[in-house]
Amino acid sequence: MNILLLGSGGREHAFAWKLSQCANLGNLYIAPGNAGTAQCGENVDLNPLDFDAVLAFCQEKKIDLILPGNEDPLVAGIVDYMQVHGIAVAGPDQYAATLEGSKDFAKAFMMRHGVPTAAYRSFNADNLHEGKTFLTTMAPPYVLKADGLAAGKGVIITEDLAEAQAVLDDMIAGAKFGKASSTVVIEEFLHGIEISCFAVSDGQTWRMLGSAKDYKRIGEGDTGPNTGGMGAISPVPFANEAFMQKVAERIAGPSFEGMKKEGHPFKGFLFMGLMNCGGEPKVIEYNVRMGDPETEALFPRLRVNMVDLVNAIANGGLESVVMDMDPRTAATVFLVSAGYPGDIEKGKPMLIPEAGAQTHFFHAGTKLTAEGVVTNGGRVLAITSLSQDMALAAEISLHAAEEVKYEGKNYRRDIGKDLLKLQHESI
Ligand code: AMP
Ligand code: GLY
Repeated sequence: MNILLLGSGGREHAFAWKLSQCANLGNLYIAPGNAGTAQCGENVDLNPLDFDAVLAFCQEKKIDLILPGNEDPLVAGIVDYMQVHGIAVAGPDQYAATLEGSKDFAKAFMMRHGVPTAAYRSFNADNLHEGKTFLTTMAPPYVLKADGLAAGKGVIITEDLAEAQAVLDDMIAGAKFGKASSTVVIEEFLHGIEISCFAVSDGQTWRMLGSAKDYKRIGEGDTGPNTGGMGAISPVPFANEAFMQKVAERIAGPSFEGMKKEGHPFKGFLFMGLMNCGGEPKVIEYNVRMGDPETEALFPRLRVNMVDLVNAIANGGLESVVMDMDPRTAATVFLVSAGYPGDIEKGKPMLIPEAGAQTHFFHAGTKLTAEGVVTNGGRVLAITSLSQDMALAAEISLHAAEEVKYEGKNYRRDIGKDLLKLQHESI
């Protein structure tokens, strides 16, 4: 089977790595890819959002399946577009992808299908004034979310009522996030610990894929600005069998059933961003693809023929895909560039040693040049190690992090420490 994988992050390197281990993989192309994906297949200079160009490439190279790594092509309707041309895509159609593309749609969907989530109301230019009054009826902190995709920056949380009202005004009237904030969701603040849970469906059957915790802030102790993700742990210790059963029964099941009822059976990976509210999972957001860096932690644990899995997503047959999880814990530490998540410099030469037996290097912002591998983005390299023991897994990744060399290297040294503390507290 010939596959075209879309994207260039650590998640895509993890996908490419899993695919490249399958005997039934034909040619693998990655658009645009990075220095890591180049070791698993052929990188191609294609814009994933230029559907005409993607189609022409698929026809020329006899691609059997397109696998989008991130949400942009899915939300833009790549599945519907390619279906017309007879090319299979492992992902949800545009309607189902709106679960990620519109927070207002996702909230209304959850209400329709009884999926637990924070109480909310949506506002736009027509009822902006009402929105400001509505805020006065809520208890702080106030949570305001731009409806559309805003590159992970569309959520504003503030303790201050006047500021919340000003932000609402700025989002709707001031178009703070452009069209993405012409509608704003105001929702109840959920107290608890965040967790990412994953499931996969071929539109008929579905399976859980496990849990991971993402470390979003740049600084140790969860301080400083948000990033794309500085590390991950999988599985999450508090996500025990009872908790995961609730996630499956109350969230994944009704979500997949809901999409089926609405005439758009969900085919793809479903990322459930949840808050664990005293043992009760509630949805913060849906994503219609795998997470980054969660994938870099989860995939080394996932025992499956990835070609079979993505083929099943697009063409059915998930019930016969053999799948299980390495019970060890994976700890991922993301190496980033100096200045990230602000301005960064690219092109720093890198020295990457051989990974140890328990360790995987997943490239993100890297590029292969005539002079060797150089940095090419904010998040540079995800280092994942596996161990029976979470603290040891993190330690092995940190040791490897020291060995990788490039100018301006930065990373968090506290990945998993909060979970360790929680574990001890609950004993
Ligand atoms: P999102 O872009 O939806 O993932 O939101 C960004 C971050 O805001 C989440 O990762 C949470 O940390 C936080 N957040 C979003 N919604 C809520 C909520 N209702 N209550 C508490 N925190 C929230
Ligand atoms: N790790 C969060 C995301 O992939 O959106």
